[in-house]
Amino acid sequence: MTDVVRYERDGAVAVITVANPPVNALGRAVRQGLWSAIDRFAEDDAQIALIVGDGKLFIGGADISEFGKPPLEPFLPDVCTHIERAPKPVVAAIHGPALGGGCEVALGAHYRLAIAGARFGFPEVKLGLIPGAGGSQRLPRLVGVAASLEIIPAGDPISAEKALEIGLVDRVADGGPRSAGLDYARELLAQNAPVRRVGEMPHPAADEAAFADARAQWTRKARGEIAPLKAIDAVELATRLDLDEGVAQERRLFLELMETPQRAGLIHAFFNDRKVSRLPEIKDVAPRSFAKVGIIGGGTMGAGIATSCLLAGLTVTLVERDEAAADKARATITGNLDVAVKRGKLSPEKLSPTLDALSTVTDYAALADADLAIEAVFEDMAVKREVFGRLDAVMKAGAVLATNTSYLDVNEIAAATSRPADVIGLHFFSPAHVMKLLEVVVADATAPDVTATAFALARRLGKVAVRAGVCDGFIGNRILFTYRGAADRMILQGASPWQIDEAIKAFGLPMGPFEMADLAGLDIGYMTRQRKAATRDPRDVVPTWADEMYHRGWLGRKTGKGFYLHEGGKAVPNKDIEPLLEAAREGHVQRTFDAAEIQRFYMAAMVNEAAKVVEEGIAQRPLDVDVTLLYGYGFPRWRGGPLHWADSEGLPALVSDMETWAEADPYFWQVSPLLKRLVAEGRTFASLNEEEGK
Ligand code: COA
Repeated sequence: MTDVVRYERDGAVAVITVANPPVNALGRAVRQGLWSAIDRFAEDDAQIALIVGDGKLFIGGADISEFGKPPLEPFLPDVCTHIERAPKPVVAAIHGPALGGGCEVALGAHYRLAIAGARFGFPEVKLGLIPGAGGSQRLPRLVGVAASLEIIPAGDPISAEKALEIGLVDRVADGGPRSAGLDYARELLAQNAPVRRVGEMPHPAADEAAFADARAQWTRKARGEIAPLKAIDAVELATRLDLDEGVAQERRLFLELMETPQRAGLIHAFFNDRKVSRLPEIKDVAPRSFAKVGIIGGGTMGAGIATSCLLAGLTVTLVERDEAAADKARATITGNLDVAVKRGKLSPEKLSPTLDALSTVTDYAALADADLAIEAVFEDMAVKREVFGRLDAVMKAGAVLATNTSYLDVNEIAAATSRPADVIGLHFFSPAHVMKLLEVVVADATAPDVTATAFALARRLGKVAVRAGVCDGFIGNRILFTYRGAADRMILQGASPWQIDEAIKAFGLPMGPFEMADLAGLDIGYMTRQRKAATRDPRDVVPTWADEMYHRGWLGRKTGKGFYLHEGGKAVPNKDIEPLLEAAREGHVQRTFDAAEIQRFYMAAMVNEAAKVVEEGIAQRPLDVDVTLLYGYGFPRWRGGPLHWADSEGLPALVSDMETWAEADPYFWQVSPLLKRLVAEGRTFASLNEEEGK
């Protein structure tokens, strides 16, 4: 027996406890421990075995840190089959999550008891994999094809109640897993319950229509991601192969996926999700309280932030200019919460108490006892400074003063108060109650516990916080501005906006830059260009066609006409812009682009600016950029993020392409010194993520 799996007797019951903190992952020692525990159970006079997890959950899955390394025996599929082939009954009592390999161990058992609150799922597809230890073969035998096709390709966990409903578990009980599990095991003994092997159950019926539907649905949804479709193939195997052959074929698919760049990208993203909030500057720093939140401005952004805070159970006081604006903000928030109820994000009975936690006011004095204020007013420095002056006057000592600006200088805003240490940027993304990203903009004087508060708030709101430094656009919008610029440059060299959009979607983004412009409104881009006009370098490209479209009132979706014509929910290319593009192209060397070139040009621009952002310390690590682009800009998760993508493409080749493009456009393609240094030293962005103190 190993330390991570304990074997003890409680009367006739052999209790096998997996104790491998923090999540009882199925590393090699656990697999060995389970194997020997089953051997011991087979040999001694215990009549039934109970498998439980120690701590907060049953088993969190295979040990992800072993992925990508040579697999070590005993392999998990064999362990699960070993459990299943035990000569006496085995029960699993599951509390908390049973995920991936955890669910597969449970399926290896003969009976399954869920403790209320348990969750069951196969998140492998989210890591670019499929269940690799019999899950895709046993689950369909137990619950049928339809339920398996709902669960395995999506990777989202289901509740204990749902698991009971579909037959994944035999019973749901309250109590601790050990005590409730012992009761259940004894009850089974009293009933002389037989060994009941899922693997020996008959094949599930092959429902061809269900497979065809699932394939069509996932081809659409997965946007280039392969694992969900492979998961469907694996489930199909269960309809025709016996268990051993099915498990062997499943393993073959699993190992093939293990070698893919998609698996590497998704696991990069998995670990980054956790590393992104681990910052030396807030390690062991206690956050301040943020139970009472004040929000200034009730437009789309302010109302979205208020909604997000209310959904997280915080008390919100929203300040607007006048009664009418305050009422409008309340109506927007109420509408947002209604949608949350419809989507199952808020229970209907909680709607009224949630709304009771909102006050809409017109007087800043109402913020006197707020712990945190988030300003979301018009993007104008004078207006922001005025708001911060007023907040400074009314807010209690120790309160956090945050601005939701998306590009303005947070140091300058902080200077409008007598307490710059309490000021921070909290850049939410629209719609703020939906989008997961929160850029935490740490200004020169921001106190560490204010930064810690921002990260704690993000956690509470269910968002992913990334630390950013002060510059125009912070991490995300600054990089966006550059890759949008790359798209405009391709237009000047002969590419069409529609062709660029198609290529970018084929790369895996949900939208191309011009569709995005139509969605946001072409007035937004115009305003940004106006704002930047005074400081624009004369060598920079101005998209004259977009300015002209603005002047003609072609503002995108809201006017029905932009880069596309929007009619009846459809978007077709607006060919009326072609003369504008032709005029702009005059004097530029023309060439043809294929999709791969468009993607490389666009992504290289993203990477180059990202490298500058890292070099300047605006992002502390490459992983901060990767997380920002994944959660705020639709970068495909399976590609890991732009800098992970750059590493996997190879930095030397990427830099060499940039240098070639620089011959025609030296201003735009100023290669980041950091990139050049990494190439010279034969290093990758990943190596910077590993550096000490980062
Ligand atoms: N293998 C290895 N390490 C794992 C792991 C796994 N399957 N699951 C979690 N961890 C690590 C995390 O990286 C984290 O490490 P850190 O503290 O060094 O950052 C630690 O365990 C705690 O994980 P965290 O996610 O912060 O805990 P949680 O309580 O919020 O959530 C889980 C627990 C199990 C729900 C969640 O970790 C999870 O979803 N894990 C992945 C499950 C999975 O995909 N399993 C299938 C593998 S095929």
